[in-house]
Amino acid sequence: MTGLACCRGVSVVYGRGEAEVTALADIDFDVGEGETVALLGRSGSGKTTLLHVLGGLVEATSGTVERASHASYVLQSANLLPHFTVIENVNFAAHVASRESRAGLGPEELLELVGLSHRLDQLPGELSGGEEQRVAIARGLAQAPRLLLCDEPTGHLDSDTGARVLDLLETLQRQFGFGLVLATHDSGVASRLEREVELHDGQIAREPVEA
Ligand SMILES: Nc1ncnc2c1ncn2[C@@H]1O[C@H](COP(=O)(O)OP(=O)(O)O)[C@@H](O)[C@H]1O
Ligand SMILES: [Mg+2]
Repeated sequence: MTGLACCRGVSVVYGRGEAEVTALADIDFDVGEGETVALLGRSGSGKTTLLHVLGGLVEATSGTVERASHASYVLQSANLLPHFTVIENVNFAAHVASRESRAGLGPEELLELVGLSHRLDQLPGELSGGEEQRVAIARGLAQAPRLLLCDEPTGHLDSDTGARVLDLLETLQRQFGFGLVLATHDSGVASRLEREVELHDGQIAREPVEA
C-alpha cells in the first residue's frame, strides 16, 4: 500500500438476527497521501461507518483494511469538553497524542491559525457553532494526523458559517498536506474536494475514473 488507507471488500454488519444491519457491503476504498475525498450519501448510507473503519474505531466484519497512519476526527457536533476552556481542550488533545503537531505548532499557534486567539480562555458554551467547530479542527490538528476524518463538520452550521469552516479546512489541508476524508449529505460541499465517492445503502454508487 502506498497511500494512507486501503479497504478491500469491506463489509460491516451491526447486530444479529432480526436486528442485523449491513452498514457497508463489499467496499473498495483508498485514500492517497495528501488526498481530499468526499463521502457523499444520504443519512444511513454508511458514511460514518466507513470513517470509523478508516480510523480503526469499527472493525470490518469481512474484508481487509490497511492503515498507514493514525487519524484524527472532526465531528458534526464539536464534542468539546464542556468544563474545559478552548486552550485546555486543544492542550488535552495534544497531550493525549503526546507529539508535536505536524508543522511543530503548539495548541496556541493552532488556535491562532483557526482565528481563535481571542477565545483561548472561554468555555465551549460561550462560543458560536462555527467557533466550536474551529476549535474541533484545531484539536484534530493537535494530534498531528496524516489523515483527518471529518463527519459532517458543517452539518449543524448555517451555510455561510459552514462555507467558512470548509475554506479553513481547505487552507489547512494545503498548508499541512494531510489526507482528508469528509462525509456529507450535501453535494455542494462534496464537490469542493478533489474526489467524490457516493455511498448508497452501504455500497459505492459512483466513483469517477481517475485520469
Ligand atoms: N452501532 C450501530 N448499531 C446498529 N446499527 C447501526 C449502528 N451504527 C450505524 N448503524 C446503521 O448502519 C447504517 C449506516 O449508518 P451510518 O454509517 O451511521 O450512516 P450515515 O453516516 O451515512 O448516516 C444505518 O442503517 C444505521 O442505522
Ligand atoms: Mg453519519
